Amino acid sequence: MKKKIFVTREVFGEVLDFLAPHFEVADNQADRVLTPEELTQVLADKEGALTTLTERIDENLLSRCPQLRAVCNIAVGYNNIDLTACNKHGVMATNTPGVLDDTTADFAWALILATARRLNEAEAYIREGRWDKWKLKQFLGLDVHHATLGIVGLGRIGQVVARRATGFEMEVLYHDVQRAAPEIESACRAKYVTKDELFSRADIVTVHIPYSPQTHHAVGAAEIALMKPSAILIHAARGGVVDDAALVEALRKGTLAGAGLDVFEGEPALHPGFLEMKNVVLSPHIASSSERTRFKMAMMAAENCVAALTAGNPPNLLNPKGK
Ligand code: GLV
Repeated sequence: MKKKIFVTREVFGEVLDFLAPHFEVADNQADRVLTPEELTQVLADKEGALTTLTERIDENLLSRCPQLRAVCNIAVGYNNIDLTACNKHGVMATNTPGVLDDTTADFAWALILATARRLNEAEAYIREGRWDKWKLKQFLGLDVHHATLGIVGLGRIGQVVARRATGFEMEVLYHDVQRAAPEIESACRAKYVTKDELFSRADIVTVHIPYSPQTHHAVGAAEIALMKPSAILIHAARGGVVDDAALVEALRKGTLAGAGLDVFEGEPALHPGFLEMKNVVLSPHIASSSERTRFKMAMMAAENCVAALTAGNPPNLLNPKGK
């Protein structure tokens, strides 16, 4: 008898086709976000799940889904999964590292350029029919070329962001909990500095660290207060890493020039202050969303699920003790 699995959100048809020979697959192609109770009920008789960041896998769910052996997240971030609870219940958890680095870094650059050059404001101005003449001082922005870029987190994605900065002839500073190896620093042309130096010197700060209790509000009022009033903050990491209320406050007071944001605390709800401000570029958590990359992420999660429930050794296992 085939093992039963559940795919919690809409995925590409090819992914379901790939899973079908291995498992009895139930899916949610209607793409409604299930409540924790609905998710628990649907997983109660399943051995595997393909999940996304909209599903919380915690003690409450796992204690009521005793058959579950593998939870395969379609995301590199996995703060929706309680790994300690997975270990306790013998559940393997996996993610999708690597395949989204370039696409996510590209999007961070889209936010950098759009925010620095006020693209959303300028476009809205045209769409509203307000463009009546060329003006010398129209939508004066911040130069990206030759500016100082401060990267918070020189992990896989941060490194790609740094390498892209070479074309803009920027000075690149970074800060991380651990200093990167010399060969990474030189490939990225990035200089390790303290957090305070990064926030006070950078013209553009871009955040690329995962969310965890340790990184909650890692960019908070104190860090934002160090930034120059002409600087901008870019955030395409995970909601909660930046203190959104502190950011709104700084933007309102004008102690920061702008922000480009793809992720939010409590998304899809967002701080209402962001909607009032023209100098904020907003996108709905789409940094990894190119056709090719989202397909690769979903397929990688499916491959993890097959490996987990057949050989017991998924390539992207997050909790080796959970087996
Ligand atoms: C998306 O946010 C991811 O973590 O992959």
